[in-house]
Amino acid sequence: MKELSLHILDIMQNSIRAKATEIELIVNEDINNNLLEIIIKDNGKGMPKELVDSVKNPFSTTRTTRKVGLGIPLLLEACQRCGGDLELESKEGIGTNIKASFEYNHIDRAPMGELVNTITMIILSEPQIRYIFTYIVNNKKFTMDTKEIEEILEGVPINDLSIIKWLEDYLKENMEALKG
Ligand SMILES: Nc1ncnc2c1ncn2[C@@H]1O[C@H](COP(=O)(O)OP(=O)(O)OP(=O)(O)O)[C@@H](O)[C@H]1O
Ligand SMILES: [Mg+2]
Repeated sequence: MKELSLHILDIMQNSIRAKATEIELIVNEDINNNLLEIIIKDNGKGMPKELVDSVKNPFSTTRTTRKVGLGIPLLLEACQRCGGDLELESKEGIGTNIKASFEYNHIDRAPMGELVNTITMIILSEPQIRYIFTYIVNNKKFTMDTKEIEEILEGVPINDLSIIKWLEDYLKENMEALKG
């Protein structure tokens, strides 16, 4: 069973390959309603309709180095294993929107894993992208927008190691505060 943060990494890597300049990640822990939602939206190149219709199937890929694409089918399987589902909307030239849902306390629901590290690693490796991350626990919300952080940094690159380290603590503190 793969940790959900690794699925998130896979899906965000799709957005990066699709040349997105903005990626939004929403993790919604609606524990009161036994629901966990992960939403990833990008403004990348989008998918043609035929691909949207077939992408949940493990033989759909536009990769040329190998014949199967597994990122989306594996996430779909992880959702369906625990009473959830995966919705995908994509338009060429506009972007892609993926919503994965899970029963929060389902015995087969994979653990989240190291979400903060996943986010900071992606920022470190692709700092030119704007990331908007929202974490919600029972309707209490925290949002981090790298564009706002860059304004405060006044020219210090966001992928400077000291900034990444600070960001890691900042995310952890705010997320823990929501969990209460
Ligand atoms: N955000 C996206 N924007 C545009 N196209 C996408 C996006 N996500 C997926 N695709 C298209 O759907 C295909 C299937 O995606 P999927 O993640 O399932 O497999 P893959 O990325 O090809 O391979 P793998 O994830 O196993 O490395 C991709 O090859 C790509 O063409
Ligand atoms: Mg992929």
